[in-house]
Amino acid sequence: MVIKALVWDGLIRMYLLRAHLRTRFNTLSLNCIGAIAEQAVSGLTDEEKNEMVVTPWEVRGKVDYERLIREFGTQPLTNELVRRLAKYTGEVHLQLRRELFFSHRDLDTVLDLYDKGTKFVLYTGRGPSGPVHIGHLVPWIFTKHLQEAFHTRLYFQMTDDEKFVVDDELKLAETTEMGYDNALDLVALGFEPEDTFIIYDVQDIDLLYDIALEVAKRITYSTAKATFGFQESTNLGWVFWPAVQAVPCFIHKKLTGENVPALIPAAIDQDPFWRITRDIASKLGYFKPAQIHNRFLPGLGIGGKMSASEPDTAIFTVDPPDVVKRKVWKAFTGGKDKAAEQKKEGANPEVCSVYQYFLYLFEEDDKKLAERERQCRTGGILCGECKKDLTERINRFLAEHQKRREKARNTIEKYHIKR
Ligand code: TRP
Repeated sequence: MVIKALVWDGLIRMYLLRAHLRTRFNTLSLNCIGAIAEQAVSGLTDEEKNEMVVTPWEVRGKVDYERLIREFGTQPLTNELVRRLAKYTGEVHLQLRRELFFSHRDLDTVLDLYDKGTKFVLYTGRGPSGPVHIGHLVPWIFTKHLQEAFHTRLYFQMTDDEKFVVDDELKLAETTEMGYDNALDLVALGFEPEDTFIIYDVQDIDLLYDIALEVAKRITYSTAKATFGFQESTNLGWVFWPAVQAVPCFIHKKLTGENVPALIPAAIDQDPFWRITRDIASKLGYFKPAQIHNRFLPGLGIGGKMSASEPDTAIFTVDPPDVVKRKVWKAFTGGKDKAAEQKKEGANPEVCSVYQYFLYLFEEDDKKLAERERQCRTGGILCGECKKDLTERINRFLAEHQKRREKARNTIEKYHIKR
């Protein structure tokens, strides 16, 4: 067991080191206001590193979500909308209660239509550039909740093509392989096989290509450049790619004849794709795709999202218990240096990565969460105890998840989109 864990850890580390080196030198970074800058992250000053950058291919610095709403031009998720969702879901999901989902586009329109009898489909996806970590599961868990409540189809896009074109080093065979592996994590969450359609881009391109062409023909290079920050040196595959990510917003009509909107639960960094897709949707006779945006699950380090290129700050779904223990043990908290000091003065849960995990994933009970927060602020609980509790919760969750993930190997084919 120990040897297996060591070997696995070694493999992940090797993968991560490669990923880290790659992002250092090939980052296409786009300021969230649309400014364009290509820079090697290695050459950045501290100030530049803290500056917020949120693009589909890079998230860096302290993320200001209010500013993203303003600059991306999305809408805040209001209590009224949360109540409207709850009319169908019966309860307010933890991720809504705790405001992990915080912004949207056209969710109101989708609900208006649904109230009057027009269904919608769900769409989300994954860029398979490495193993899945628990931050990736967050919008998937919420998507499953919506699927169950609204009895809707889910189209799930596995973008082995995207990860291949945007990454100088990854081989196509590697991203494709990773796509099949990552799909196990999706299936392990318990999606309905009759209602879940995984699209593996390279394998399923025959289903996507005609719509991708219709989309691509209607988006100018100038719009794409302004939206994504493309440069002279950007390869053609990457420039075409946004047309492919648009396709699952529209594919339902082709498959069933039914014209309904798509609702996309996803992290806010994907929003630029939807902006250009929404612009051309009606020209092609489709509804504009709607979105509900989540925040990034923080990594276990100081600030920033959980990221595969920061080895020790991401918990992978395949991590064995002792690796989880080690990572959580090293996590950044809001605690004081000395126990005596903390008992006297208390600590700060707002900046604590461990607390964020209870908040967004591992403490369902609002009262218990509030009690943990109170104890933290007043010095009644020390960081070691929270870390121990969190390690147990994560390991309990992962033990189950890993079992279901293995079982998923037998059923995965049922989820593959049919022709
Ligand atoms: N571009 C996404 C990524 O890199 C993958 C993706 C494709 C996606 N379609 C999506 C994510 C729809 C969310 C919703 O991870």
